[in-house]
Amino acid sequence: MVRIHYLQETSSTNKVAYDLALNGEPSGTAVIAVSQGEGRGRLGKVWQSPPGKGLYCSIIVRPHLALEDYPKITLTAGLAVAIALEEITGLEMRLKWPNDVYADGKKCCGILTESSSLTEEREKRFAIVGIGINVNTENRDFPLDLQSKATSLRLLTGTEYDIQEIFHRVRMHLLEKLRLFESFGFGAILKDWRKRDMLSGKWLQWVSTSGEIIYGQSEGPDDAGRLMAKDQEGNMHQILSGDISLAEKFGSKGCSCS
Ligand code: BTN
Repeated sequence: MVRIHYLQETSSTNKVAYDLALNGEPSGTAVIAVSQGEGRGRLGKVWQSPPGKGLYCSIIVRPHLALEDYPKITLTAGLAVAIALEEITGLEMRLKWPNDVYADGKKCCGILTESSSLTEEREKRFAIVGIGINVNTENRDFPLDLQSKATSLRLLTGTEYDIQEIFHRVRMHLLEKLRLFESFGFGAILKDWRKRDMLSGKWLQWVSTSGEIIYGQSEGPDDAGRLMAKDQEGNMHQILSGDISLAEKFGSKGCSCS
């Protein structure tokens, strides 16, 4: 049976959901917590989880997708969240590859997708889609260094939102978009993702695997979900993961891209 596990406090909903998935809980099962002591972000960062202010949830998904399609689940989840938040707030949401949702130039949601072992047999394979949304967060709830970079639905609209209602809408759109992906391929997702791409045409900088800083103009995600960028010499680069930021030396400014 598909269950929604409501927790008052936990370390990380991703961790709880991962253990439930290993125990065989079905696709669509979710864990939602009022507060997290060790909220996890991408690249080893911490996800600030002030109690009762945000949506902290993790959804188990077991899509019928090839292994190489699993990294695309994060982009699919970003699109699902953006659509849900647009419906709820009436605001335009932008997507920052691979996993962030922005509004008004500031981050309001982050997504951390963690998958089962790649060697897992197909029937046992799963991904945990961990979603953190700043819902009723006030500026003072963010650490000082995030106050100029992060926002919440409440700060954006002046309205207090029902966190569970947001959760149900996000979960519904996530499962629906994954069904679309399974039936019609990633193209159906990518088309709507690109409409919200906040980095499109922007100059980016990132550190290559050999430690070199590279600059390139974003061409958006390709069919495999990798971010493509063209450098000044016209060479195309595939960015698979990692931290990218807007390249100020090329005149881009004002966005935290971590
Ligand atoms: C990021 O922007 O770096 C991703 C943040 C993901 C945070 C969510 S909150 C719910 C779930 N549980 C976690 O520990 N992390 C994700």
